[in-house]
Parts: sequence; C-alpha cells; structure tokens
Amino acid sequence: MTRTINPFFLDLTGEEIEEVQREFGEILRRGELILGRHTDSFEKEFAAYVGTKFAAAVSTGTSALEILLALKGAAGKRIAVPSNTNFASVAAIIRAGGTPVFMDMTPDYFVPNFDMFREVAERHRIGGAMWVHIGGIIPPDFVRVVEHCAKQGIFLIEDAAHAHGSGVAGVKAGNLADGAAFSFFPTKVMTTMEGGMVTTNNESDWKLVKSLRNQGKRDGNYGGLHYDMGSSLRISEIAAYIGRVQLRKLDRMVAVRANAARQIADCLKALSIEWCDTSHMDQASQYKFIIRLPDGVETGAVKLALSQRGVICGGGVYDVPCHLQPVFSNVEADRPKLRNTETWCPRHICPPITSGTTEEDIVALSAALREVLAVRHAPV
Ligand SMILES: Cc1ncc(COP(=O)(O)O)c(C=O)c1O
Repeated sequence: MTRTINPFFLDLTGEEIEEVQREFGEILRRGELILGRHTDSFEKEFAAYVGTKFAAAVSTGTSALEILLALKGAAGKRIAVPSNTNFASVAAIIRAGGTPVFMDMTPDYFVPNFDMFREVAERHRIGGAMWVHIGGIIPPDFVRVVEHCAKQGIFLIEDAAHAHGSGVAGVKAGNLADGAAFSFFPTKVMTTMEGGMVTTNNESDWKLVKSLRNQGKRDGNYGGLHYDMGSSLRISEIAAYIGRVQLRKLDRMVAVRANAARQIADCLKALSIEWCDTSHMDQASQYKFIIRLPDGVETGAVKLALSQRGVICGGGVYDVPCHLQPVFSNVEADRPKLRNTETWCPRHICPPITSGTTEEDIVALSAALREVLAVRHAPV
C-alpha cells in the first residue's frame, strides 16, 4: 500500500498532550479561564522570542489584524495589501473602514517588491500598508519598504500569520515594522487551536490592544468602565497554555521544515524546476514551500499525479488571489498591474512539508516529484 504524506501535522507528543491535559485540569480547578497567568506568560515568552518589547494574545489572527488596523487609524485610508494573500488580510482592512489597494507580487518570492510597493503607494497616496510574509518569506528589499514608510509617515504592519520563526538580517518577523499580527490557526507553523498575537515595541499601542480585545476596558480585566470601542477578542487560558508548549519547540519545528525544504530544493534543482528560494534569510518558517510549475504544466494534473503516489499537497498560497475572489468584486483592482499574481497563483504547488516530515517522507516525496515533474517537464 502506498504511504501517504499529509500537509497537516499537529506537533504535540503524547507526553505534551498529557501535560496539557493536566494543566487543563488545573485551569478548571482554579477557575481562571481567561486573561490569567498563562495568557500573561505566553505573551512575555512570545515577545521575547520575536524580540519585541510587548505582545498581546487575542482570539485569532484575524482579530489581531483588525485590532492593529483600528489602532493605527486605518479608517478612511487607502491601505496597500498584496492580492496574493488570505481573505483575512483584505477583509480586516475593509472591516476597519479602510480601502484595500492591491499590490502585485514577484514570482521569486510570491510577495511584492519595493518598486511594486512604491508605485502603488504613490499612485494611490496610501495611508498605510499591510505586508504579508507569504509562506514565511521576507524578500531581500523589504527593508526599503520599511524605510520608505518611516520617511513618508505611512504606517506599516506585518501580517505574520505564516512567519513564526522567520527572520532576516538578525531581525525576526513580527519585529520588522510598526506592529505585527500572528495566527495560531490549526494549520499554522505553531497552533493554539484558535488564537492570535499582536507584537509591538510601542507601549501605548500594546495597552490599547489589551483594551480593544477586552471590550475597551483599559485598567484591569474585569468590571469598570469601557473607554475604547473594543470587542470580545480574548484567548482562553488553555489555548495560551498550548501556545507555550508549542513556542518552546518552535525552533525545532522550523528546523525540521527547513531540513525538508533544503532536500526538496536539491531534488528540484536536478530537475530544473524552480522554487521560491529563501537562502537570503536567517531562517524561513517554511510554512509553505512554493514550487513554480513550468509553462504548460497543469497544476491540477500534477497534484492528482502526486496524490496517486501518496503525496497530498495542501492549498497553495494562494490558488485564487483576493482581487478575483467574489466577495471582493467591488474592490477596485487594476488587473493589468496584477499580472504576476494572476499568472502564478494558479501555477504553483506546495508539497506537504511539516514539522512531522521524516527522512523517509523526504525520500518518498522527492521520488514522487521526480516521477511527476520530470515526465511532465520533458520536451515533447
Ligand atoms: C495570511 C493570513 N492572514 C491572516 C490569517 C487569519 O488568521 P486566523 O485564521 O487565525 O484568523 C490567515 C490564516 O488563516 C492567513 O493565512
């Protein structure tokens, strides 16, 4: 029987599950279900990992984005965002009262480059930008985006939902701009089941995040007055505890992904197949390893052929860009300027690399890629 290699892996050992169960009991016995010691510790530990002064845990990555946009004053402003991103990035801008302005991407990194950003920034006179580290990738010229925004007084927030552990030039994702949002959705590099985190170096922003996640209460968590137009966007203590367990093994989980990515890259090199290279980074989360398919090769056929060999690809990043999503049909999109996005979104695959990928998986995955891509890539 063919072994199956899956795109999802919940990285908790039997011992860790028992530890979480024990602590769940303690949480219930204490009755401290939200905004307690684990939320507090998780925030401190996550900030220390990312290198920011502060972090605040919230209910989802989406709420982290919405809170950040609200406190940066996105309402009424045009906000640059890549079209190649998750629904949540664009929806959060609209919910915050901003207008999304789509940016194209390069095939090299599946994110915009500085020139694309500057062109959109100047043409649309944006008031802010949301940068998404797609698949965990931070492009070499991102530093120019940061410098440009600082010089022009444009706020720049990171959607770091894919980028736990990614870093470039000695700085980690989440500490590169004016605030960042992480997601701990089940498929992400680390999970809390549902959850999110805002990281920031700005103390007043941090305090406001803590208020906005808790019905606008500024001082203390319970009772009292409501000062800010917040909502109920808290994380539970059990989720925070799972986050602490996941965080302490994050570097190990990323290292397993990176090892698999290196070997798959070697395999692709021998086949003359291209992929998004992250060798300029200190470390890439490898949330998604992006393979660019040669012209004329049908993505669905490749995925099917791989699945017949037991290799199940997860979703791409992304198969359908946001400017082509029905829900965003009334958001203006300059399609000729989004040509790379329209070309490459449907023409890539992400092989199943996770923190559970074994050496045996890598051998099987490489063999399947060789069989499927070498044949399909061969000249007629
Ligand atoms: C790029 C990106 N941003 C934001 C989100 C939203 O995160 P969540 O699902 O935790 O709300 C996701 C994932 O779902 C994502 O992939």
